[in-house]
Amino acid sequence: MSALFAPYTLRSLTFPNRVWMPPMCQYSAATSGPETGVADDWHFAHYAARAAGGAGLVIVEATAVSPEGRISPADLGIWNDTQVEGLRRITGFLRSQGTVPGIQLGHAGRKASTDQPWKGGGPVGADQGGWQPVAPSPVPFAAGEHVPDELTVAQIQDIVGQFADGARRALDAGFQVAEIHGAHGYLVGEFLSPHSNHRTDEYGGSFENRTRFALEVVDAVRAVWPDELPLFFRISATDWLDEGGWTADDTVRFAPLLKEHGVDLLDVSTGGNAAGARIPVGPGYQVPFAARVKAGTELAVAAVGLITEVEQAEKILANGEADAVLLGRELLRNPSWARHAARTLGADVHVPQQYHRSV
Ligand SMILES: Cc1cc2nc3c(=O)[nH]c(=O)nc-3n(C[C@H](O)[C@H](O)[C@H](O)COP(=O)(O)O)c2cc1C
Repeated sequence: MSALFAPYTLRSLTFPNRVWMPPMCQYSAATSGPETGVADDWHFAHYAARAAGGAGLVIVEATAVSPEGRISPADLGIWNDTQVEGLRRITGFLRSQGTVPGIQLGHAGRKASTDQPWKGGGPVGADQGGWQPVAPSPVPFAAGEHVPDELTVAQIQDIVGQFADGARRALDAGFQVAEIHGAHGYLVGEFLSPHSNHRTDEYGGSFENRTRFALEVVDAVRAVWPDELPLFFRISATDWLDEGGWTADDTVRFAPLLKEHGVDLLDVSTGGNAAGARIPVGPGYQVPFAARVKAGTELAVAAVGLITEVEQAEKILANGEADAVLLGRELLRNPSWARHAARTLGADVHVPQQYHRSV
């Protein structure tokens, strides 16, 4: 039996296999009018293709819990009910293919209000549909980028509430997995790391204080997310800084707290919070961080980052380094990678009946 195609259960939800699609922003929603932040035909076709291709879980891209929480003005949002309708169309199709629909709930913090990557990804001002970003501390990600406003405690509490409202809407839209975006130097991750969090109040300083916002978000989301459905948290396991950043040791220390607060799986990425970080990118380069959490804690983990080959993916699971693998860019290249992997391994995977002649 292949490990990749062994079903996997968290709480009351069974994933048909462990070939999963991580959140990947499409920066393709309308930027003004009633359709702002609403998933359209592009999003539908994009996610539908990966479900028809056999992925066991598709996590819809970072979806902003407030307008200020968008990375770009063209991000998906989940702060109103029109946005729920666009997402419902996607979850309905995913479920018809046996694919679990997941969504990443995010707030971009100091990295908000930027252009689409294909337009350079630089900061955009109010004249181009942008806004003033907020963050734990008034420190830009890099020179020349937005200097964010420091959040007040009252504003922090509002954002906690926005995550809960987003989760409620995600459930209404038909999602079965909610993932909190705590990675890549966006708002939740900005609070975790001393590199971006210079606060001196109860949200900064000690490990306990820096993790407070993340745990408050987890608690608020868990309170509205049904007991029978799993909650994921995506983390950058390290800032890749020699000093002054969040470290792999911090991640191993934090994981049991996340579990205690009702997180079921840690989606283990790295980086994105420090402009000067040197990252040794290569095949499976983030897998050891997932494996450390898996070995050292009770929390389930998913591995991500340059996992592209069938044998490589199978080995990560067979070696017990992770409970599932997420393939990002490889699924952009080949939406049916799960079918390809199943053929290679002689395993069963969902094939739409319309495609049965290709089995
Ligand atoms: C186009 C694109 C958009 C992305 N958007 C997100 C996102 O919305 N949220 C997130 O946590 N990571 C995002 N990522 C990172 C991916 O989820 C993944 O972690 C990364 O691409 C490494 O995996 P890979 O080597 O399999 O592509 C994005 C990556 C790409 C290529």
